[in-house]
Amino acid sequence: MNFELSENQKLLQEMVSEFVQKEVVPRAKSLEDEHKFPRELLNKLGELGLLGMTVSTQYEGCQTDYLSLVLAIEEISKIFPSLAVIFSVHSSLFCYSINKFGTSSQKKKYLPPSAKGEIIGAFSLTESGAGSDATNLKTRAVKKGRTWVLNGTKAWVTSGSDADAFIIFTKAGSEAREKKLNAFIVEKNFPGLKVSKVEEKMGLHSSGTSEIVLEDCEVPEENLLGEEGKGASIALHCLDGSRIGIAAQSLGISQKAFEEAISYAKQREAFGKKLSQIQAIQFMLADIATLLESARFLTYRAANLYDKKKTFTKQAAMAKLYASEAAHKIVDKALQIHGGYGYSKEYLIEQLYRDVRVLSIYEGTSEIQRLVISRCLQEEY
Ligand code: CAA
Repeated sequence: MNFELSENQKLLQEMVSEFVQKEVVPRAKSLEDEHKFPRELLNKLGELGLLGMTVSTQYEGCQTDYLSLVLAIEEISKIFPSLAVIFSVHSSLFCYSINKFGTSSQKKKYLPPSAKGEIIGAFSLTESGAGSDATNLKTRAVKKGRTWVLNGTKAWVTSGSDADAFIIFTKAGSEAREKKLNAFIVEKNFPGLKVSKVEEKMGLHSSGTSEIVLEDCEVPEENLLGEEGKGASIALHCLDGSRIGIAAQSLGISQKAFEEAISYAKQREAFGKKLSQIQAIQFMLADIATLLESARFLTYRAANLYDKKKTFTKQAAMAKLYASEAAHKIVDKALQIHGGYGYSKEYLIEQLYRDVRVLSIYEGTSEIQRLVISRCLQEEY
């Protein structure tokens, strides 16, 4: 068993960390406070090639192993969790799905600009009545001549208000065939697509989560992604991978919360000594470090299985379940160490406390991860 990152992975981690320190640190707080989409930072990520990590070199990407993508998401999440989720959805859901399931003309058209950041992609599966029950969609796609006509309302679309293109899932055909979905690549300028509402959220304010209305939205037949009726399996396959990305986001937020707690504990005094010299605080930090390390092992292991082309559905669900729930506990303990100041907007931990909450909800709730793990166990035993 090898617990060391490769030289390339270390170099990538350093490069992203330098980028984050130089470009993201000075801008993250004001963008987040003003609920602004970080387009400029995404352009810079594109210039560095980091938006093409799931795009093959044939289409101007720099396709890396999945663990490298995980490391990049983790680094970005330490400073700007909103940017991390935009980056993660763009890479592990939008680009990944086209790179894996697209036709060569879809790849030629969409992947090079996506790798450069000229297209920022989103992934739209969820509807108001179909979140966990993801195949129970109401949105329909009906073929008219050489065009698919989409009607319905999609919900909770990460980057929805700012994305240039979407992978949109609909029921297959006008009849509601059980669990059969279609997937389409839909550009924001296609007639009939409208951003109808931007959600007011607890956290991740820069990621612009939206409702999208499709009203006789016309999609050319060549924009069907994958085979007709195979959309559910495309969605669930892509989500298997991207759940490791959400586990990585959990690691980044947890690591930052840990560092903030240590730094506060080293400077704040109580009862004539630093907080860091008080055993109650030392034990909290010990718990945080243990949770964090366990979450990191599960997450890297899931990515490693993926890279070895082994079955990883169960481990991805375990990583997402454990890392997101560990992140809740870690940020809560780190805030507790800050005492009353942790409740103040002056301290970063207050933002992390809000940002972390959604990690056990989006890309499959903790309950869905348990369901996926249970199904895998039933197959195994
Ligand atoms: N990989 C590939 N294919 C899979 C799969 C997997 N891991 N799991 C299932 N499938 C296939 C099945 O074989 C089946 O294929 P066919 O139609 O060809 O037979 C199809 O997918 C449907 O599978 P199920 O019968 O298992 O589907 P189900 O209705 O029982 O649902 C579920 C299973 C696990 C509950 C699933 O619905 C699920 O994961 N729900 C949560 C959805 C989710 O994570 N949503 C997140 C939205 S995206 C998001 O949040 C992104 C963002 O913006 C941040």
